[in-house]
Amino acid sequence: MTIKVGVIPAAGRGERMLPLTRAMPKEMVIVDGKPFIQYVVEGMVAAGIKTIYIITGWRKHSVLDYFGSGENFGVDISYIVQDEMLGLADAIGRVRKFVDESFVVGLGDDIFWPVSCMKDIVDFHEEKKSSATLSIEEVSSSEVEKYGIVKIDKDYRVIDLVEKPPASKAPSRFAIAGIYVFTPEIFDAIQKTRPGKNNELQLTDSIKLLVDSGKPVYSKKLNGHRITIGSIDELRKANEFFVYMNSKKYPK
Ligand code: G1P
Repeated sequence: MTIKVGVIPAAGRGERMLPLTRAMPKEMVIVDGKPFIQYVVEGMVAAGIKTIYIITGWRKHSVLDYFGSGENFGVDISYIVQDEMLGLADAIGRVRKFVDESFVVGLGDDIFWPVSCMKDIVDFHEEKKSSATLSIEEVSSSEVEKYGIVKIDKDYRVIDLVEKPPASKAPSRFAIAGIYVFTPEIFDAIQKTRPGKNNELQLTDSIKLLVDSGKPVYSKKLNGHRITIGSIDELRKANEFFVYMNSKKYPK
């Protein structure tokens, strides 16, 4: 079935981007001429998504002011408020009331470049008919503790995964890279998920429940770049990335 629904979790408080985030949600910070959450919206539109749920929270009115109904961006946008920060799995679980079909998730603090990255993962999911598909990228061993880390077989089927392990316990150096595609099976898995790393409901643990129950979960290497923006330093690097790419006259 073709994927028509997208979900963007963007409720985080952006504390590592203070003082900027006193005045605006971090997703509205401009990178190369637009608020950086717009890159995820555009990636979804390019992947054929018709309806997007933005999961938003505290002091985020300007996200609504900017995107409105989504009409100007070629997609229907609705907003779901997550007041408490209980974890990524909790954020995704909040969509259950509204969604009974497969959907793509793009994390709101990442830019995926070029815009075709999202479509690539969605197409792979449809081809494999998996219960879940995760974008992955290889990271250095000093970085594994910042990510969900997957163990995969030669066909890229996920056989194990763990959220932010210490380097000594990481099953590989393949990190979950911010784009996921799910069937509605993920909602039952989320409901069964218990608090994990940092006492939060971790989406990685929900996906592990799917894997452990024998459901097909696949991964695909990100065909492009993930630019994460969580701190002022990362924001500077993101801008440098675009200055460099624009100077090379890369097509957008
Ligand atoms: C989240 C996920 C993690 C994933 C990462 C990608 O972590 O929990 O599995 O690898 O996004 O950016 P966060 O960065 O929100 O701590």
